[in-house]
Amino acid sequence: MPKTQRFSRRNFLRRAGSTALVGVAGTAGASRLVAHTAAPHPRPLLALPSDDYDFNEVYDRVGTDSVRWDRAIDQFGDNIVAGMGVADMDFRAAPCITQALAERCAHENWGYMHRPAAYAEAVAEWEHRRYGVEVDPSTVVFTTGVHPGLIGALHTFSPPGTSVVLNTPTYSGFYTDLRFTRTVTSDNPMIVDAGGRYSIDFDDFERRARRCNTFILCNPQNPTGNCWSAEDLTRMGEICLKHRVVVLADEIHRDFVTKGSTFTPFASLPDRDIVDNSLTFSSASKSFSLAAMKVAWFHSTNRDLLERVKSNTRADLSTLGMVATRAALTEGAPWLDDLLAYLDANHDYAQAFIRDNLPGIRHRKGQGTYLAWLNVRDFADRIGARETAAREVAEGDADMNAEKVVQRWFAERSGVFLNPGSNYGTGGDGYMRMNLASPRAIVERALDNMAAAVSEA
Ligand SMILES: Cc1ncc(COP(=O)(O)O)c(C=O)c1O
Repeated sequence: MPKTQRFSRRNFLRRAGSTALVGVAGTAGASRLVAHTAAPHPRPLLALPSDDYDFNEVYDRVGTDSVRWDRAIDQFGDNIVAGMGVADMDFRAAPCITQALAERCAHENWGYMHRPAAYAEAVAEWEHRRYGVEVDPSTVVFTTGVHPGLIGALHTFSPPGTSVVLNTPTYSGFYTDLRFTRTVTSDNPMIVDAGGRYSIDFDDFERRARRCNTFILCNPQNPTGNCWSAEDLTRMGEICLKHRVVVLADEIHRDFVTKGSTFTPFASLPDRDIVDNSLTFSSASKSFSLAAMKVAWFHSTNRDLLERVKSNTRADLSTLGMVATRAALTEGAPWLDDLLAYLDANHDYAQAFIRDNLPGIRHRKGQGTYLAWLNVRDFADRIGARETAAREVAEGDADMNAEKVVQRWFAERSGVFLNPGSNYGTGGDGYMRMNLASPRAIVERALDNMAAAVSEA
């Protein structure tokens, strides 16, 4: 067994001062909140401890049915010490969210929920305050996730068998949405320079747009981290308008922008015709790690597009999801702002560490998202990943590829779970995606273990 594999996840969490299974066991922290709760109206103001924003706290999620940790352990066994895959965060939720949920839970009735205008107003207010975009609250349509919204839009504009443009590498879940709607991808591979900077191939984009009804824009781009400029967005928007392609702007990662970069909402572009040819999809679920709360929304300045998609979307929302989302949007900004500084430092740490300690792996800090996109091509060659994959395919495992071999290699030898780049469409081969939204101790542990394993390869 390699040296790094002897590392024990439980010992690490204990040494790092983790809070074990708070969500499951209901610890002193949780009961403290419950003890102070009252009926939901009016909401009492709780005095919150001053260390609420301790992003260094290692918060143990194992055993809570989390995809990020429990699924990784199911797949690769108990030696997984760092689940750096699916895009959610390992931090304790913003105190305002826990407080709002605890207060609502104290009212022990779960009948049908009325959804007052305050929910859509909270979305519009967030858009206005953080991005200067004016969204009419009456145009905000809630869904149980960005996926159901995108699926509703694809059902509306893209009949089965037709193609959808994607700038690739892009979010793997879009391919699931295409399968679900029986549409097919038209991958528009991005251009990547020697320094790892990605840009759009506009000629190829236009060639593809001519044959598509919809374009799924990912801004900021998961997994490459691009925050698309107003110029890029306008150029893509013009092409889409010209060829009657509806722009579905997925902006779920928009709140994560690294220092020195800016996020431009598609709806903020100055050309009204371009904006009127789009719908924007977003949520608080990435920003506040509320993915399992199942709340998202879409909006458009074009009432016709909006109504058509709305008629293909049914959202059965839950009270707790709505309560958590409203608390996040109305009170969560200070928590998020502190978190952004913390994540930026994680990005910087990872960038320097990878440069200095992971030979054969290259990485460029993204402009947005909390994801690192690792170029592992040289390293994959060093461990013969392509040959191993070819052999396993020949032996009957049709799904195997070089990136999955690299994934398994790191899981088994360093206890680190990464996402294979091949999941992200054309141009993802030779890459791995690493989630950096964790306490620094976990990021350090993951990178230390990877470096130790690489040095033995
Ligand atoms: C770009 C992008 N869109 C959508 C989603 C999923 O959204 P939801 O959970 O709201 O369906 C993700 C999750 O990682 C994502 O990265």
